[in-house]
Amino acid sequence: MEHPHIPLEDLQAQVAACRRCPLCDGRTQTVFGVGNPEARVLIVGEAPGKNEDLQGEPFVGAAGKYLNELLAIAGLSREDVYIANVLKCRPPSNRDPRPEEIQACTPFLREQTRTINPEYIVTLGNFSTKFILKTDVGITRLHGTLQRAGRFKVFPIFHPAAALYDSKKREALENDFATLGELLRGEV
Ligand code: URA
Repeated sequence: MEHPHIPLEDLQAQVAACRRCPLCDGRTQTVFGVGNPEARVLIVGEAPGKNEDLQGEPFVGAAGKYLNELLAIAGLSREDVYIANVLKCRPPSNRDPRPEEIQACTPFLREQTRTINPEYIVTLGNFSTKFILKTDVGITRLHGTLQRAGRFKVFPIFHPAAALYDSKKREALENDFATLGELLRGEV
């Protein structure tokens, strides 16, 4: 039987005290996640960057400003959704998450997901998509296609940071967020 849901405040306190991997030594603070705890849409990014580590909130830097614009394309605001990352601590110099860090940290994301119980999980980029879908198929092939993970609908999209200086990816991101809006409104 599944264990009861852990309240988000309790999970947040566990994350704040976490020492399960060496990333804890380099962090200013953990970045748990923010938004509507009853959101229909859970957005999952990769890991905090410099600004997120300093402010304690996901997607507050350049990629975050772009994410806000993308959400608007889907008819959403930050207050409508919940935003979290695969890793809760910033990797040094924003390097890729390591498998052992993902393994140590993702029980928190799993519990967050169970507690929020969204209808859709939007995975941003390869790390998030691979973790949620347990797949080795890359984001270039999966983006913009509706997938499933257990009871959740999963909609993979390129990471907004990857698109900041790549107009092709920007176009794909904007199309995919428009499709997300249609899915949410039941138009497709
Ligand atoms: N990139 C991410 O994946 N997450 C953040 O919170 C910020 C940038």
